[in-house]
Amino acid sequence: MAGFIGGNRLEALLKLDQTVVGLDNFATGHRHHLDQIRAAVSAEQWARFRFIEGDIRCLDDCRDACAGVDVVLHQAALG
Ligand SMILES: NC(=O)c1ccc[n+]([C@@H]2O[C@H](COP(=O)([O-])OP(=O)(O)OC[C@H]3O[C@@H](n4cnc5c(N)ncnc54)[C@H](O)[C@@H]3O)[C@@H](O)[C@H]2O)c1
Repeated sequence: MAGFIGGNRLEALLKLDQTVVGLDNFATGHRHHLDQIRAAVSAEQWARFRFIEGDIRCLDDCRDACAGVDVVLHQAALG
């Protein structure tokens, strides 16, 4: 979510007024990337985003992130 592909998807989805849950452990992603996205969308759009600092290898983090969602887009990776 804080990486290149995930961040661009987050911005695009928020600009489409979608509700988004993001999960990232900042292994290679950057908090300032999320700040840039916040600046690029409206306050109302940003309010539709919930961020979880967590790890995709943690079942509880994944369950939390997936609760009630319709679609999972997975771009977490170590290059
Ligand atoms: N960047 C491209 O042009 C491109 C093109 C085609 C495919 N891809 C693929 O897309 C995926 C993402 O690429 P990217 O360029 O966005 O990489 P990136 O490093 O910018 O983003 C990856 C994100 O995953 C997070 N992450 C890593 N391990 C994690 C974990 N265990 N739990 C939670 N978060 C974790 C990182 O902190 C980072 O924010 C990779 O599989 C890559 O091969 C990228």
